[in-house]
Amino acid sequence: MITASVATRSEVLQQMEGFLKENIDTFLKPVETNWQPSDFLPDSRQDDFFDEVKLLRERAQGLSYDLLAVLIGDTITEEALPNYEAWFHELEDLNRNRDNGWAQWIRGWTAEENRHGDLLNRYLYLSGRVNMREFEISTQYLINDGFDLGTAHDPYRAFVYTSYQEMATNISHRRVGQLARTAGDEQLSKICGMIAGDENRHARVYKTFVEKIFESDPSEMMLAFEDMMRKKIVMPAHYMRELGVDMGKTFGHFTDAAQRLGVYTSHDYTEILDTLITDWKIEQLRDLTPAAEKARDYVVALPNRLRRVADRMPVPKLEYKFKWID
Ligand SMILES: [Fe+2]
Ligand SMILES: [Fe+2]
Repeated sequence: MITASVATRSEVLQQMEGFLKENIDTFLKPVETNWQPSDFLPDSRQDDFFDEVKLLRERAQGLSYDLLAVLIGDTITEEALPNYEAWFHELEDLNRNRDNGWAQWIRGWTAEENRHGDLLNRYLYLSGRVNMREFEISTQYLINDGFDLGTAHDPYRAFVYTSYQEMATNISHRRVGQLARTAGDEQLSKICGMIAGDENRHARVYKTFVEKIFESDPSEMMLAFEDMMRKKIVMPAHYMRELGVDMGKTFGHFTDAAQRLGVYTSHDYTEILDTLITDWKIEQLRDLTPAAEKARDYVVALPNRLRRVADRMPVPKLEYKFKWID
């Protein structure tokens, strides 16, 4: 085992590379048997295609305005996958050569994620409730505007971010699915459930990466975790906008709607942090540098501080008219 005092980030990641290769089959599902978007959508080769689309449209009528808006925002977020993939490729230590375990994971993760945007996009198109052109403009804007996550090309920070983010998307897709079921759209509920399942598995993988790094390089990993929490975890779609709307403004309305529905709230943010602190056994970390000890204490105390702030925050009431929905 490489000791914390001598190990550089490159060495730690290099040491983990074999672990990734050995476990890649448990981290990713085989392409041959994995679900595909068309498993959940009408088959346009079939004679009953139009009947199936009609049914899909009827079921989609039951979705509330806020729920539809959140679903569209979630889809735009998924469709900005090129940004996330590019962001991974900026992490040099993970992209040394194509057979490297890290590179395999990044490709496999991207390939699985790519199905999410495809499936939701097609559902929205067939639902008959979405102004697809406005939706597409928002998607193009988001890829064009990119994002700034504060991870500074550092894999340690990046894995804190992705652990958080995958847990957050798991929660929001799962809750949209539950609300869709209540609204009578069983098929959409299934769609969201399948996607949430992927997010959950991805979250577990990223959390395992961080757990492993904590074993070899606890102080540096702790400092990276603290840094990300001080900066706050911003959502990858934080620059989301609509045509004629300032960059990031639409994102605010989207998160307001999610907050109103209880799909993703500031309490969820804190609960994810609670989970990470428990899963990574932060309170039990020992033999840290003095700076890392301070970082640990900051992070451990953070959930209660966040809870106090969240309790004071009112649920946003202002209804907003999105261009995505006529
Ligand atoms: Fe996704
Ligand atoms: Fe994801």
